[in-house]
Amino acid sequence: LSRAAATEFVRQAQEAVQAKGAFTVALSGGSTPKNLYALLADDSALRATIPWDKVHFFWGDERHVPPDHPDSNYRMAHEALLSKVPALPANVYRIKGEYPEASHAADEYDQTLRKFFGLAAGRFPRFDLLLLGMGPDGHTASLFPGTAALHESARLVVANWVEKFHSHRITLTPPVLNNAASIIFLVSGEEKADPLRSVLQGEEQPERFPSQSISPAQGTVLWLVDRPAARLL
Ligand code: 6PG
Repeated sequence: LSRAAATEFVRQAQEAVQAKGAFTVALSGGSTPKNLYALLADDSALRATIPWDKVHFFWGDERHVPPDHPDSNYRMAHEALLSKVPALPANVYRIKGEYPEASHAADEYDQTLRKFFGLAAGRFPRFDLLLLGMGPDGHTASLFPGTAALHESARLVVANWVEKFHSHRITLTPPVLNNAASIIFLVSGEEKADPLRSVLQGEEQPERFPSQSISPAQGTVLWLVDRPAARLL
């Protein structure tokens, strides 16, 4: 699964850099992508084919914790990938989960995206590649079932209160996710089989299964799923 994702990552990175001299990727958190990140860094053949100094790293979401916290999506990507490849620190755009107010981190990241992508009001950033995972409850990024962020249509980044964690998550919003040029969902494991069938083959109920709200207007979605997760499809 990770090797298939890595092959896609390399192809899309090379294509973007060839076309415009840069590659913008929004990383996902959680545990599934960890192997992908490690492969990109540790497999010398793969690593050598990526123009690391032309890659701009963003995150699709972040927990409301400092960057050295075990739950930090930044920390996971830094340990697995960023600390091992010649990415330019200036090209790594971290969501500041350490701020006491999650809304401060969201507002700052919103501005970071507007500045980097040179956005006029009402416009949305278009990532070359958006990596997404899917939780056992069908959430993606930090768009959790029944949470406010599902309905955000203007802001780029919001602090989303998630009752079951009794904490905020900072997350890109649906219009930003759906403006990506390419989206790869990486889904692994038996526990994802049931929600994956609901998301892909069940009735449309994005409130309950937020991954269903991912449908880019001008972009592609690739679902990379292992056998245990695909068991019920
Ligand atoms: C996060 C992720 C989240 C993740 C899913 C799946 O911050 O946790 O961005 O959306 O992709 O929860 O997580 P696993 O890959 O660990 O199952």
